Amino acid sequence: MNKKELVDEAIKARGKSYSPYSHFAVGAALLTKSGRVFTGCNVENISYRLTMCAEQGAVASAMAQGERDFVTIAVVADSSRPIVPCGACRQVLAEFNPGMEVIMATVSGGEETARLDELLPRPAQGILESTKDV
Ligand code: THU
Repeated sequence: MNKKELVDEAIKARGKSYSPYSHFAVGAALLTKSGRVFTGCNVENISYRLTMCAEQGAVASAMAQGERDFVTIAVVADSSRPIVPCGACRQVLAEFNPGMEVIMATVSGGEETARLDELLPRPAQGILESTKDV
């Protein structure tokens, strides 16, 4: 599975987006260590704040199949420049692999890659980590 193939999977998932409120369709494809790919799309709601991002859909789909060794995620929108995952999604992804590769792409071929820990340098810590030195 190369970069382009992963982006293509995200584009395919984007086609299933439910985004009648923003009209901004997003697709995500998550590659796991075992080589499997799990996809997600944004799912909006009339109660706007209940909207689920594409990235979180992909994570939920992988988890339900017992896969949590995430290596790379591709996120695609039809924007002029690649979009970065929102703060909440960065935190959700960091739970499983802060060093994950994040490919941000546009439908028209724009692309940027970053490590998740560049996008979210200090993820929230759990009670155990935050009390380690006490
Ligand atoms: N959205 C995503 O699904 N992923 C992102 O990384 C950014 C934003 C969705 C949420 C909402 O449905 C729409 O894009 C507009 O913000």
